[in-house]
Amino acid sequence: MCGIIGYIGQREASSILIGGLKCLEYRGYDSAGMAVFDGQNIQDIKIKGKIFGLAKALEKKNLPGKLGIAHTRWATHGAPSIINAHPHFCCSRHIAIVHNGIIENYANLRKVLIKEGHHFSSETDSEVLAHLIEKYHKHKSLTKAIQLALKQVIGAYALVVISATEPQKMIAIKKSSSLILGLGQKEYLLASDASAIIPHTKKVIYLDDNEMVVLSKNGYRIHNLGNNHLIKKKVETINWNLTQISKDGFKTFMLKEIFEQPESIANAFRGRFIPEKGQIKLGGLETIESKLPHLSRIIIVACGSSWHAGLVGGSLIEELAKIPVKVEYASEFRYRYPVVGPDCLVIAISQSGETADTIAALELAKTKKALTFGICNVVGSSIARLVDAGAYLHAGPEIGVATTKGFTSQLIVLTILAIHFANLKKTINRKNAQKILKELTRLPVLIKKLLDQSGSLAELAQKLKNTHNCLYLGRGYNFPIALEGALKLKEISYIHAEGYPAAEMKHGPIALIDKKMPTIFIATQDKTYKKIISNMLEVKARNGMIIALATVGDKKITSIADKVIYIPRTIDFLMPVLNTIPCQLLAYHIAILKGHDIDKPRNLAKSVTVE
Ligand code: M6R
Repeated sequence: MCGIIGYIGQREASSILIGGLKCLEYRGYDSAGMAVFDGQNIQDIKIKGKIFGLAKALEKKNLPGKLGIAHTRWATHGAPSIINAHPHFCCSRHIAIVHNGIIENYANLRKVLIKEGHHFSSETDSEVLAHLIEKYHKHKSLTKAIQLALKQVIGAYALVVISATEPQKMIAIKKSSSLILGLGQKEYLLASDASAIIPHTKKVIYLDDNEMVVLSKNGYRIHNLGNNHLIKKKVETINWNLTQISKDGFKTFMLKEIFEQPESIANAFRGRFIPEKGQIKLGGLETIESKLPHLSRIIIVACGSSWHAGLVGGSLIEELAKIPVKVEYASEFRYRYPVVGPDCLVIAISQSGETADTIAALELAKTKKALTFGICNVVGSSIARLVDAGAYLHAGPEIGVATTKGFTSQLIVLTILAIHFANLKKTINRKNAQKILKELTRLPVLIKKLLDQSGSLAELAQKLKNTHNCLYLGRGYNFPIALEGALKLKEISYIHAEGYPAAEMKHGPIALIDKKMPTIFIATQDKTYKKIISNMLEVKARNGMIIALATVGDKKITSIADKVIYIPRTIDFLMPVLNTIPCQLLAYHIAILKGHDIDKPRNLAKSVTVE
């Protein structure tokens, strides 16, 4: 997820653009850039690092002009660097673009464009857009060229284009990535979110997918990208203040990230499978594909929530692909004498890609000649660079210290990986693979339904906020979700919580149960459902308070539990993704009631780069 902004009007563009980028910086901050039309050419500045660096660079090199675009990057394709920073240019430098989103078919487009003589300067997916538009702009207007170019593009984009050949214009298109048009006095702004616009105007138009806006300083025209039909859009007035919307209107980054999950999950699977064939296409695996059949086992190494994701992933791989999997705490693995060798695939899972113990575990695996694979969110991170191959989460920057969307995206990538291994080992038939993939695509809608329950979880939080201890119980794929639920509660509410496999309760934790101690059961219907109901009755017999996550339509459970949170139905493999959402929201609301700093909980750091 990146931040983009464009300006056309009467004022100097650069100061408006830099101010806008500062508001958008939370969206990504590994590199940034700006391009302004100076009356003859498009001049640019790019830096690696934060907006602060770009502002400093602008003090040295002035970019005069009243038409410009700017970008703050959170790398997805290509490491954070000056060459990969936006804006990107076509070969002749007449066209400059900023892009937020992912171009799924960029590799093919790039190949074709290179054959046609285009020269690429970056490793990004975005740069193909500049060259593709250039290709058509030779004989067509800029508007037409963009339309022709985008006909060939598969993916998500909020795209803003300027051209030195039609400098009275700025053109933008939205598809699956947010873009807002700000309407000022003889000036217009385009930005990824309203925070960058409201210092200048509160009148905005929220662009919808497949809409193209053509701006000049005297007016704007919005039409459908495909058929050119003009669209009359409602002008809305923003009544937020700046502080609120720097987190996109959310009170905290964590809440924003929780609510981003329908989108982040879609980004984790988008373009990664062929539904009709039940096949996975994970670009990152291609380089090691030939070695996979020779592997006899897998070891997953990770820390914290990533380790919980690894537990789910390990079970999925064993069940679907019948490959033995061991899931290890990276911090333990590195100091044991593990049996690892060339027959072994070591998968490191890490949101940040910088966790010291996970890096050390990987290094150990490499010395033992194991094949290594990374599942990271941060592009260009240490782990991403260390492994033989890998897959990114594409979840966008996660700023809240307690991981939310990072965790659910890890579950998605692991599911995809498990299906891929199963396909390779022929342990899954096409119908089953298709079924799982079909359900995967339903998850964003189901998650939206769960997010709608945030209010009732806030009410439940009122009842639980003064508790000192809490037990989370689950089985099978949902046992790691019990661990994750307990970790979320601990991290941000500072309430002591334990996650346990439900059947283990009677081997000790049951001693803790009394009427003050809430137990959260993950009791959605799967093959262990009846057993979990028995565990619930054991807690009830000891006057414990029971909160149940249950499958929609389960009426029986209401007679046992004190509070039931209903979860939409999906296949067992994907229930962990859904069950995670109420656990996140419950922890969040309790921590809010306790007045804690949600995004920066005490004693924690977003990436643990020390042992
Ligand atoms: O960046 P990583 O995924 O490697 O981080 C691992 C843990 O430090 C992390 O998951 C931590 O447990 C989170 N704060 C959990 O919310």
